[in-house]
Parts: sequence; C-alpha cells; structure tokens
Amino acid sequence: MGLTRIPGLLFGGDYNPEQWPEEVWAEDARLMAEAGVNMATVAVFSWSRLEPERGSYDFGWLDRVLDLLHEHGIAADLATATATPPPWLVREHPEMMPVNADGVRLEFGSRQGYCPSSPVYREHAVRLATTMAERYGEHPALAMWHIGNEYADHTLECFCPESARHFRRWLEARYATVDGLNDAWGTSCWGQHYTGFHQVEPPRTAPGPVNPAQVLDWRRFCSDALLELFLAEKAALRAVTPGVPVTTNFMSILHGLDYWKWAAAEDLVSDDAYPDPADPGSHVQVALSYDLMRSLRQGPWLLLESAPSAVSWREVNVPKPPGMMRLHSLQALAHGSDGVMFFQWRQARYGPEKFHSAMLPHGGTRTRGWRDTLALGGDLRNLSEVAGTRTRAQVALLLDWPSWWALEAPESMPSNRLKLKELLLSWYAPLHARGIAVDLAPPGRDLSPYELVIAPNLYMCTAEQAAALEAYEGRLVVGPFSGVVDESDRVHPGGAPGPLAGLLGIAVEEFWPLADGQVQRTGLGEARTWAEWIRLAGAEPVALFEGGDLDGLPAVTRKGAVTYVGCVLDDVTPVLEPLLDGIERVDVPEGVEAVRRGGHLFLLNHTTAPRQVTLPYAGTDLLTGAELRGGIELAPRDAVVLRIEGDK
Ligand code: GAL
Repeated sequence: MGLTRIPGLLFGGDYNPEQWPEEVWAEDARLMAEAGVNMATVAVFSWSRLEPERGSYDFGWLDRVLDLLHEHGIAADLATATATPPPWLVREHPEMMPVNADGVRLEFGSRQGYCPSSPVYREHAVRLATTMAERYGEHPALAMWHIGNEYADHTLECFCPESARHFRRWLEARYATVDGLNDAWGTSCWGQHYTGFHQVEPPRTAPGPVNPAQVLDWRRFCSDALLELFLAEKAALRAVTPGVPVTTNFMSILHGLDYWKWAAAEDLVSDDAYPDPADPGSHVQVALSYDLMRSLRQGPWLLLESAPSAVSWREVNVPKPPGMMRLHSLQALAHGSDGVMFFQWRQARYGPEKFHSAMLPHGGTRTRGWRDTLALGGDLRNLSEVAGTRTRAQVALLLDWPSWWALEAPESMPSNRLKLKELLLSWYAPLHARGIAVDLAPPGRDLSPYELVIAPNLYMCTAEQAAALEAYEGRLVVGPFSGVVDESDRVHPGGAPGPLAGLLGIAVEEFWPLADGQVQRTGLGEARTWAEWIRLAGAEPVALFEGGDLDGLPAVTRKGAVTYVGCVLDDVTPVLEPLLDGIERVDVPEGVEAVRRGGHLFLLNHTTAPRQVTLPYAGTDLLTGAELRGGIELAPRDAVVLRIEGDK
C-alpha cells in the first residue's frame, strides 16, 4: 500500500496558479503531463483568494484548476490554505498577529501571521478546512490533505496575553498545583516562588537569564500549541473525508517541534529539504534528516519540497550544478521517500521567491532546468518499483527533543558549544560513509531490533529512559554530558550520569569544557569542545586523556557492551570501528553513498570525479536497464539503482 492511492513514485511540486493568468494554466497542465508529473501541491497560501471577504468564497478558480489537473492525470496534494490568514481577518482581529519576546506585535505582509494560541485564528482555520473538505472531498483529483505549511517556519512562538493564558492552562494540566510547578521549576532559586498560576508568564525578555526550566516548558508548550492547531484542522477534515490521508510538511531536523509527537498525529510523514549546494557536506546532513523522516513512522515518507536549483533565502543562493538535482532526488528515494516533489512548479515573476528555482524556469522549455525536469520524470518512471519498499537498519541513533531543548538552553550551561545536530552528525557521518543503514529513535522505544545503539547526547535522561537503555542487550554507546538532569532540568542527585550510573559504571566528578580552539589529546585521538573528569565505578578505561589537566584520567570507558565517551572527539571512528562487527555495510570510495532500500542498492557519486565501485551484488540498473556485476565506474554525480539479483 503506497502513501496515497497513486501507484509508483510521486513527482511534482507546489503549484500556485493564482499567481498566473488563467491562459497559462492550460500550458502548465500540458507541460506537467509531458514531464510525467502526477501530483501538485495546491492552495498552500490561497486563503485570501478563496475567501477574499469574510464568508464570501471564491472557489471557482480552484475548481477549474483541480478539474484541469485531473483531466491531465495529475492528483492534488490539496492544502487547507490556512498557512496565511487573509488581511480582512487580521484587520478585524489585530490581536491574532504574533508578539515577539520583546512585546512587539508583528505586522501583516509576510506569511504565518497568526498567534498559535489565537482562538480567532483557530476558529477560522477549522471553518476553512471544513469548507475545503466539503467542497473538494469528492473531487477525483484529491489524493491527500496538506494542513498549514511548515509549522514553526516563521511563527514558532508568541508572547501575547492570549498565549500566556494558554501557557498557564497547559502548565495547570501538567502540574495540577502551583507547588508542583514551583518544585519542577526550582523557583526557590532567585526568588521566583509563585503563589498562583495567574502569576506565571511566558519567558519574555527579562533583566537577566530566565529560569531554564521555564524555558524548557515553554519549548514543550510551543510545540504542543502548534500541534493543537494541526489536530484541530485534521479533526475537521476527518469528519468529512475519513479516507483521505493527512500530512503537514516538516522541516528536516527542526529544533522547534517534537517531530516524534507530530508524526504520530499524521497519516504520512512529509518533509521539505534544502541542502546547500555550496556546502560539500550537505548530502550527509540531509541523509541524516531523511533517515529521521523514515524513522518517524518507521516506513516510507514523502519529500514534499526541494529545490530544482537555487533557493532564494540564503545570503548567497548557489545553483545546483548539472547532475546534482537528479542525484539529490535519487538520494531522497534511497532513504525512503516515495517520491520527489519540488518548490515550485513554475518560477514566480514577483514576490520574495521570484529568484527561487522552479521545475519550469523563467526561461521556459529551452532551459537546462526544464530538460532536467523532463529527465527526472523519466528516471522516476523507471524506478517505480522502489515505492513502498522498506529499509532494515541495524544501528540506531537516539534523539529526544526535550533533551535537545534543555541542552541548548541559552545562558546557563557549562558550555554553549555543545550542539545536538553536530553531535548526531559526528556519529552519523562515519556510519554513512560505510554504507551502514541508520535509524533514529526516541530513547524510550524498544531498541531490541538493533545491534548497535548510539546516544550522542542524552543531557536529560529520566529513570524510565534509563530503564529502557538497561533493558537493551546490544552494543550501546553513550556520549558525553548525558544523564545530567531530569525532565525538569534539575540535576540528578549525586550528579551525572544520574540514572545511567549503574549502566555506565562511571561517575562524572566535574565537567571540563574546553575553550574555543583548545585541544585535549586522548588515546583515541583529539578532543575539542568538551571533556570530563571521570571516576571509574565499575567500568574499565578504553582510552585515557593525555597531557593537560586531565592527564591520565579516563576519556572513554567500557562496562560490558556499554561504551561511554567522556569528550567530543574530532573523529569517533576509533570508538566506532570495533563495534561494527557483523553489521551490514557496503564498502565504497569516499564521496560515494551506498544505501540499501528493500531489494535495491543505490550508489550515488557525490563527487566531481569518476569513482570505481566494486558491486557487492549483481543486478540490473533500473536507471539504464544495464546488467551489472563486479567493478563499475560511476561518472561524476552519477548514480546506479541496482535491483539486486535474487533478492525479493
Ligand atoms: C519552504 C516553504 C515554501 C517555499 C520554500 C522555498 O520553506 O514551505 O513555501 O517558501 O521554502 O525554498
């Protein structure tokens, strides 16, 4: 069963016909069909054109667009159009615009102009979603619903009085009594003891550092408040169109939203990914976020937005050189996407995104961009058997949003240099280079399917999470500064690693952050950013610190199958390599990515030079039809998608 009722892989992009005279639409549909487009995302920012005045709808144009798409065999990922409320609503209710931490209310004129807690916004968004479902629920083009757009892209939080009331309700539900809150937030520090919930406010700009437990709950609340909006629209859609799958497009590994919670509320996971063509490491970073997408609901997902070439929102928007758009598209498929969608179909003539690339560039069908679009459509047809296939990973990386929020709280940490994404990547990159499949998992999940589990950092670790790790019988690696605080950012009694102490067999006596540029040698290579003064309590040392203040103290330890790394190593390979016995890998030259998906092996040459690859299996290259075995040469930025012989 695919993600939608459409067979094969999905191909298409955001389509904004309201930016074009109607004469252009027929050409759009004809060219989409020519390119093999089978889905278009429609009406994402269309509220002001669908309801130009309160209660007065203009659906005629969208009816004609959907009919036209359908006539050309193109399905719709139909948005509820609620990502940008219209001017009439904002002028009637100026209080629904978000307010920043300094108390400044933001103005209309961009997008996502709503306070997540605004009852007015919610009421009207739900009304519009219902109206859309009633109007288009039976339309033959409708394949899936697209709620909102990139929640938290521009509006993650709002500090207005309405948000404050909502935050207080959320806190009351969490803590029941104000003393529960006082206890969790440690308000005895700096004289913050509250005697009623009415005294509590969002963490607005204050004279000095704000209570980190308050900030942590604010992060939780902001993620939940936006999720409530999504769920309210989803319920409205469900009531009218129970069989139509619902998604909202994620933003890769986004700090602001707990995607484990969000994905559980979706029917299918979709993601927007914009790796920077100017960054030679971006294909590794994006692979990590694709693996997260695949892990969120443990199956195929959909790349709903990507850039055919340049974007328009970086300082310098470097185009994708020839071959990269195809390669990056294939990469998303390799990591579990059931299609390749772009922002956007036709390049805009005006607005902030007029220089953003599109499947059909300003220059029309004579451009290399258009030729690339046509060619990719052909590739995707050849790859249709990949749709729906799954990945079996033997390695998992743990990722927990509340822990991430607490770790990167401003102003109160031993060092602001520990960044979770960088820590994840430091473990992911060497696995990726070895063609080893990696899942991501929340710390509480059953980890028994994995041979190796790595927690790059679990600053926050509850007793339940520690118990789940203790129950795991495979090889486990825990990174530095883990097991430090409980769910309210209170240091565990006795200090780190708190509930992990028995499992790790160590005690951390003192954190030893390294100054910028400072290097601490260890028996397994150099460490930067972070080290720790560790006392053994049942574990044996694997490597010691060498030189400096920590000379001779343990840097990496082991107790049974559990390794603890008490520093940030420049290169974790010496820790990792001995733990990889028996884990399936594909040996490929540097810059070549090898990814197994079901019975297919993707080989992607991300370099600008030819690369020799020894195939671990014989098979058919779906892209060319060639039968391959033994050694092959992969041209620069070229790829092979091998249907492995004899594999079902
Ligand atoms: C996304 C957004 C799209 C478009 C795109 C441009 O963040 O969802 O609407 O703005 O970026 O890269």
